[in-house]
Amino acid sequence: DLTHYRIAVIAGDGIGSEVTSEGIKVLEALLESFEYSIDFDFFPWGCEYYHEHQRMMDEDGLKKLSAFDAIYLGAVGDPSVPDHLSLWGLLLPIRKGFDQYVNLRPIKLLPGAPCPLKDQKPEDIDILFVRENTEGEYAGIGSFLNKGKEDEKTEQTSVFTRKGTERIFRYAFEEAKKKRKSLTAVTKSNALNYSMVYWDSLFQEVAKDYPNIETQLLHVDAMAMHMVKHPKMFDVVVASNLFGDILTDLGAALQGGMGFAAGGNINPKRDYPSMFEPIHGSAPDIKGKGLANPFAAIWAAAMMMSHLGEIQASKIMMKALRLTVAQKAVQTPDLGGIHSTREVGDEVVKNIAIVKDTA
Ligand code: NAI
Ligand code: MG
Repeated sequence: DLTHYRIAVIAGDGIGSEVTSEGIKVLEALLESFEYSIDFDFFPWGCEYYHEHQRMMDEDGLKKLSAFDAIYLGAVGDPSVPDHLSLWGLLLPIRKGFDQYVNLRPIKLLPGAPCPLKDQKPEDIDILFVRENTEGEYAGIGSFLNKGKEDEKTEQTSVFTRKGTERIFRYAFEEAKKKRKSLTAVTKSNALNYSMVYWDSLFQEVAKDYPNIETQLLHVDAMAMHMVKHPKMFDVVVASNLFGDILTDLGAALQGGMGFAAGGNINPKRDYPSMFEPIHGSAPDIKGKGLANPFAAIWAAAMMMSHLGEIQASKIMMKALRLTVAQKAVQTPDLGGIHSTREVGDEVVKNIAIVKDTA
């Protein structure tokens, strides 16, 4: 009998709805070939909702979402709402509330995608980022004292718990083990003399359980340099919340731009739904014009199917996406093309029929 999936869709702001529409289109095109069905429920949360209700999502939003198998998110943020309010009102509460402690971001250069580095081949850029997603620098703890006075000051505290740090390392080591690859941990223990010294020591402690995995610890500044100069030296990378956030945007540039970078916010224990999204923002500069590249959103949808256990469906989505990228026949303007978001989605759907027979 038919497996039935319930997906909550939060298209959000800006280009969010344009790109998630294409992801859903591709998911629906796959349905006829597989023994499962999908129900999409759309939640109108985001900045428009905020203007109407003074909140980014329903008060019982998490409770509503908890009934779903997964969440498919577009992007959150609009110039009419301060970014820290929109982020802390929707995205971060879901990541934290659902204990989605892994932010998985594949930085892979697909053949045909425009890498800004010279002489880099697709096989040279294939990095799986495992970013801590619930604490660290984004713990949300701090203060703002004496506002408006001469001695005003702020503090923002990072939090690294043993539980939170150990579990992200273990997840990263397991990924490295699965892929028979090396693991790099990103640090800054020379300057951050409490948090990152602790981070390093826990990394070395967990590493003892994985004697066959080659490891290295690199400072984040050196890491940024090496990602540009020698991207081939990285397989799996584990990073704290802030460092992972920054380095994966650099990674997105290496893989051809924000239009290619996808991510999953994973609750590995599966006691809450996981959430999949393109890692780009709402791109207010191009919203509503059909200019947004939907590859990242389609890639995120493929990651979602893989997480749900539909490995074959996920593979076919990725094959169709790779074919579309490689052909370069239908591309949005960020890639030098003349086609719309929708036309690119249509092309991926068309290519599903082609790759299906070879899968
Ligand atoms: P952004 O990722 O929205 O845009 C950066 C640049 O990349 C812009 O020039 C944009 O046009 C371009 N771009 C992004 N996605 C693209 C796509 N799919 N196709 C073609 N071009 C694309 O980042 P920015 O400008 O820093 O932030 C805009 C808003 O998005 C802010 O409100 C910010 O807080 C929010 N944001 C939300 C995120 C999320 O929901 N996960 C992540 C990052 C930012
Ligand atoms: Mg980011």
